[in-house]
Amino acid sequence: MDPNDDQQRLDERAKRQEWRHALDRSADLRAAGDPTDPTAVAATPPPPPAAPAPDPLAAVEPAPFGAAAAVPAPPASAAEPDPVALAQPLAQPAHVADPADLVLAARGLRVAFSGNEILHGVDLDAPRGGVLALVGPSGCGKTTLLRSINRLTELAPTATIGGQILFDGADVYAGGTDLNLLRRRVGMVFQQPNPFPMTIFDNVAFAIREQAKRRPSRGELMPQVADVLQRAGLWDEVKDNLDRNALSLSGGQQQRLCIARTLAANPEVILMDEPCSALDPRSTARIEELIVQLAGSLTIVIVTHNLAQAKRIADYAAYLLNGDLIEQGIAQQVFEDPANQSTRDFVAGMFG
Ligand SMILES: Nc1ncnc2c1ncn2[C@@H]1O[C@H](COP(=O)(O)OP(=O)(O)OP(=O)(O)O)[C@@H](O)[C@H]1O
Ligand SMILES: [Mg+2]
Repeated sequence: MDPNDDQQRLDERAKRQEWRHALDRSADLRAAGDPTDPTAVAATPPPPPAAPAPDPLAAVEPAPFGAAAAVPAPPASAAEPDPVALAQPLAQPAHVADPADLVLAARGLRVAFSGNEILHGVDLDAPRGGVLALVGPSGCGKTTLLRSINRLTELAPTATIGGQILFDGADVYAGGTDLNLLRRRVGMVFQQPNPFPMTIFDNVAFAIREQAKRRPSRGELMPQVADVLQRAGLWDEVKDNLDRNALSLSGGQQQRLCIARTLAANPEVILMDEPCSALDPRSTARIEELIVQLAGSLTIVIVTHNLAQAKRIADYAAYLLNGDLIEQGIAQQVFEDPANQSTRDFVAGMFG
């Protein structure tokens, strides 16, 4: 890994932490009614734009995307974005200085399977950059929420989905959304590492080849493959044998390869569903380190049952219970001084 890149990511993270502390301070000042609060002006919601911003996802001709072609159309309420709602500025989350800083937002997200509602109108705010940890007891709907963000939930034929998921302000459930592009921009890493049954090189080259207009040669692909494997912290372990079958790697290496494969598509957001739950402590520490580094240049939304892990790596946190989003905000505040009694109980139980 290029030490300059590394340093740059660490610097960016330090900047984000400074910004977070500034927000904390300004929240204190606002609470105290201090007129010198420097963020008071920025915190005022901007006037509604004259017209909704063009939807970068909808603007692209839909491309075939695996099983997505067989996906039943979402219910009318989800398929037809409410133009009024899209024209409004996003609500002002307490922990985000400017609504434009939200890379993702769920608005009134409802998901049911066979009519059994699992998510009951969830409003989630994911600030741009950094790590957002989704926590909550087993079965509360964390995976369902995560999978709804890049439209994997609808692969279940019994699923019905309502409400909105805004990615850069555009509803991903709007008609004409290019699912292929969406899933490149919002990548996903699963609980169980799932490398393709091919070589290490081909796993990483997969997304690059997919996006190329003509098939690039191995020589042309190599610099990008090497760069992505370096960013995923795997290069030193595999550089001498890139033609090894990916399935022969250890679990921790496979998970870093899956992260590398996701990075190769150049995503802006990576969704991670308990990416360390099948790994030993050493591999877990490696992935945590990697997540923190990546969060300097993109947004990570991670589901974890490990609250100690969430505390170590998260900048923001959201607590779900029985399909309701109970509390969200700066991770330190959610974990150490939650506003809600139920969050307090959850956090105390998990740490106790
Ligand atoms: N495809 C599906 N069909 C039917 N029910 C489903 C489906 N997927 C999830 N559910 C149900 O939705 C509820 C929430 O599941 P989900 O996997 O989102 O929970 P979770 O918070 O991720 O749990 P865990 O922490 O155990 O992973 C559960 O009751 C589950 O049985
Ligand atoms: Mg889950």
